[in-house]
Amino acid sequence: MEQSQLTDLLGQMTLDEKIGQLLQITGDFYSDKAEERTGPMTQLGLDEDDLANAGTVLGVTGAEECRKIQTAYMKRNRLHIPTLFMGDVIHGFRTIFPIPLGLASSWDESAAETMARVSAHEASVSGLFVTFSPMVDLVRDARWGRVMESTGEDPYLNGKLAAAMVHGYQGDDLLADTTRVAACVKHFAAYGAAVAGRDYNTVDMSERQLRDMYLPGYKTAIDAGAKLVMTSFNTVDGVPASGNRHLFRDILRREWGFDGVVISDFGAVKEMISHGVAADERDAAKLAIKAGVDIEMMTVCYLRHLKDLIVSGEVPEQVLDESVMRILELKNDLGLFENPLRGADAEAERTVVMSKQHRDAARRVAEESMVLLKNDDATLPLDASRKIALLGPAAKSTDLLGAWSWKGQEDDVAALDVSLREAGIQVSTVDGDFDYLQPSDQAVEEAVRVAKDADVVVLALGEPSYMSGEASSRSDIRLPQAQLDLFKAVAAVNDRIIVTLFNGRPLDLSDIQSAKAIVEAWFPGTEGGRALADVLTGAVNPSAKLTMSFPVSVGQVPIYYNVDNTGRPYENDPEGKYVSKYLDVSNYAAYPFGFGLSYSKFEYGEVKVEDHEFDADNPLKVSVELRNVSEREGTEIVQCYVHDLVGEVVRPIKQLKGYERVTLAAGESRTVTFTITEEDVRYVHADYELDSDPGDFDVMVGPNSRDLSKAIRVHLF
Ligand code: NOJ
Repeated sequence: MEQSQLTDLLGQMTLDEKIGQLLQITGDFYSDKAEERTGPMTQLGLDEDDLANAGTVLGVTGAEECRKIQTAYMKRNRLHIPTLFMGDVIHGFRTIFPIPLGLASSWDESAAETMARVSAHEASVSGLFVTFSPMVDLVRDARWGRVMESTGEDPYLNGKLAAAMVHGYQGDDLLADTTRVAACVKHFAAYGAAVAGRDYNTVDMSERQLRDMYLPGYKTAIDAGAKLVMTSFNTVDGVPASGNRHLFRDILRREWGFDGVVISDFGAVKEMISHGVAADERDAAKLAIKAGVDIEMMTVCYLRHLKDLIVSGEVPEQVLDESVMRILELKNDLGLFENPLRGADAEAERTVVMSKQHRDAARRVAEESMVLLKNDDATLPLDASRKIALLGPAAKSTDLLGAWSWKGQEDDVAALDVSLREAGIQVSTVDGDFDYLQPSDQAVEEAVRVAKDADVVVLALGEPSYMSGEASSRSDIRLPQAQLDLFKAVAAVNDRIIVTLFNGRPLDLSDIQSAKAIVEAWFPGTEGGRALADVLTGAVNPSAKLTMSFPVSVGQVPIYYNVDNTGRPYENDPEGKYVSKYLDVSNYAAYPFGFGLSYSKFEYGEVKVEDHEFDADNPLKVSVELRNVSEREGTEIVQCYVHDLVGEVVRPIKQLKGYERVTLAAGESRTVTFTITEEDVRYVHADYELDSDPGDFDVMVGPNSRDLSKAIRVHLF
């Protein structure tokens, strides 16, 4: 449709029809069985006219189901405006990829794009038009269950991965390519900074910090073309995001020029009553529409009260019209007026969803996402000629998909025991299931017996998937006690333990440090069992590196590598008394941001700069020679960090400014070069302007954020 036709269409709509466009409800409301509709309808107080006008639908899939709903809907909608199907396709549709925190550990934008591309293809043939991804919340607190959905603690890396996902979902031509879906950046803003890691809790930080650290990731994803933005549940500076004009009108729309659709999170408009900033639904509706929230997800404050607010003159009709136009434009950008089913195709659904090609892609990404945290005495890869026991709750578990894997099915998953046997490794296991939290005494005794008899024990531990994700914060981020007890009992009879972990957050692993090897496999998705088996056998050489610090203890949380300078720097004098530190634990992470091992061994040569001075026209060129000094090919993620020595405001002691995945054959070496521009070292100043400070900088290169080269002093003019 031409823009003029959209304007015409808007002109023909009644006030009720316009307000209807702003409502998002779930698919149950469109069930063809009246008795299934009645409950939800009574709950929200909707009548048939409301259903005929509601602009978008949440959480329906299946080409046939979507076709039925769309056909019936368009008949009932007076102006035949199509509805729009949205859903949470977060790390795969049915073919599930590693959770985003795992995917991020690949530091591979092409892996992120592949995940999104495959997800879009499966989702689009199944009838979806929009996915609520990427989630770009910067995270520093492992207690928060939703860290599994994030890509970690670094704004630069988060932005790169989010932009790659947006491209994977939307492609280059969303209108023409019906195998793509529109992306929704969430949760705006700073949802990852909930106080004490408790979900839905307050976020309180300076505006400068918000702009410097938390907003850039979202902005990069928006600049990559994402069509929608979702509000967050939290407050920002005392105002719930869903009613926060400053966030949406000032920053998102005016400063960043975002002209897409803003959707509230589930129920978040009405929650402003519980927050205590709205007296009632009418008030909540007024706050949200004035803040610029276009679609209200699953509550009816707009539906009930917007008309009155407009008639009374409290909300100009123009504001409503702008919201409706944005929604119509989104429908138009997706081509729905001409093709209301878009890519939905029952036939393609059968061949595309969970195709071999997609499973293979998920497996490759899972292989790249597993982080080798420890490997003493080259215990890994496994020696197939030894007697290997595979024990622990995750040994036979198919709970490998992780939270937010809506359409994923455990039946599609090959567990670790099955995968190892497929890979030709004979393992002894115990009979029956082994509970994650409360294994029977008999199961533990049996495990100890099998461990005693083995040369090496693979202990498959972790969190069940319900322990991370939404509403799954924990105050204790160790493995469940029963698993620590199991570790101890096994360690008493066999000291060659390899721990594998399926979990959704950085854990405090202090209690299992006597393990010879530790592999962080995250929730690796449909092909995750096989990918882990390949890492254990050595068919795959691990290359992943953490994107979120693993603390020594929960008391260090929030912990992150890019901390600000203090007046009493710990780094200068860790043993000193009057420095910024704890009495009982170091400031450092157990496994820092950027950390991960390989079966290969890499050596870094001397870091060099082409010129010690740089300016806006002449970027800094930093290079290092990387050598693979081992007998096998491997991939190293080389990282480059910068420290701005004297800023207008306090600067972090280091910040990631470049990284590269480098694959080297045995004995091979290569020079890796990073180009750092003046723009790269800009940051948000006290007046909220993005600018750089001429002066001295330190540049460091290395395998992770801790073990860096000696700093090279450079100067920005
Ligand atoms: C609530 C979650 O916070 C959000 O991430 C999700 O997209 C919506 N529900 C829709 O399911």
